[in-house]
Amino acid sequence: MKKIGILFGMEDCFQWALIDRINSMKLKDIVAEPVQTGAVTMNKGTGYTVILDRISHDIPFYKGYLKNEVICGTQVINDPFWSIADDKFFECAMATKLGVAVPRSVLLPHNEHPIDTTSKSMRNLVFPLPWDEIFSYIGFPAYMKQHYGGGWKHVHKLESPEELFHVYNQTGRHLMMLQESIEFDSYYRCYCVNREHVLVMPYEPRNEHARRYQADHAPLSKALNDRIVKDTLTLNRALGYDLNTSEFAVRDGIPIAIDFMNWAPDCDKHSVGEENFNWVLEKVATMLVDRAQKPRPHVPFAPWQQMLLK
Ligand SMILES: Nc1ncnc2c1ncn2[C@@H]1O[C@H](COP(=O)(O)OP(=O)(O)O)[C@@H](O)[C@H]1O
Ligand SMILES: [Mg+2]
Repeated sequence: MKKIGILFGMEDCFQWALIDRINSMKLKDIVAEPVQTGAVTMNKGTGYTVILDRISHDIPFYKGYLKNEVICGTQVINDPFWSIADDKFFECAMATKLGVAVPRSVLLPHNEHPIDTTSKSMRNLVFPLPWDEIFSYIGFPAYMKQHYGGGWKHVHKLESPEELFHVYNQTGRHLMMLQESIEFDSYYRCYCVNREHVLVMPYEPRNEHARRYQADHAPLSKALNDRIVKDTLTLNRALGYDLNTSEFAVRDGIPIAIDFMNWAPDCDKHSVGEENFNWVLEKVATMLVDRAQKPRPHVPFAPWQQMLLK
């Protein structure tokens, strides 16, 4: 019997629906269940053919567990190695090379020295930073946010240099990036499953959390929809994510990718709505079963390098 395991944290909707959906297919050699693990023994798997990871970004122990599972031949979605190596600033640089529009972005040094370092450890760093140059490249308003973050934590919209310094001086050891603010007409969030299925969902980040999927946008033109789908596929194929969301702010008819590092995207029926939920449930259930039946070899690095060489 092949087992599909789901590894999850506080969410309490998607994983149970997924387990029920897969088990309701009544496949004679496949069963889905919550992952169970204790302390991890090297090179000893825990018996899953496929694991869907929804939480290791918050629990370092699970990252270690999942990397050991990969060594043991388990198909882990998403790749636990690549999700550690990835970050939002790198993703922006990669996206521009692949022809996907992103906000102009700059990576800033930590405002405070990392633990156990002093200014001597950082002698390679230009000080003070060329702020005038940075401001003329990025402009205002601007966004300051973590280069490896999520959940809208430490995301700030800044209107002036004074505000920027005030916020930057409170960022401590967080690694921040500064980004042109995209003043958008409409905004879309896209599920991408198995690097092939895309669902474009109207989204309104200016609404309160519970109403963000109730956007009031005019219908999408075919050309814009096609471009968003194409850009979503390009990003997810390059980054090698099998379950992810990408967000686009549309300014003057151009979709600009804002956040596409969401490897455990919100799949709760109560926030995304029933229709979107049913779509992602079906696509992920099918992908997990397919991966259990036809395992793929682990690709050690996300495919972006090969795509850039083409
Ligand atoms: N450059 C930007 N231009 C316009 N809006 C932005 C920009 N960066 C972030 N935002 C807004 O802030 C929200 C949170 O930022 P995001 O990059 O998605 O961080 P997180 O990873 O924490 O979700 C986005 O959904 C978007 O509404
Ligand atoms: Mg986001």
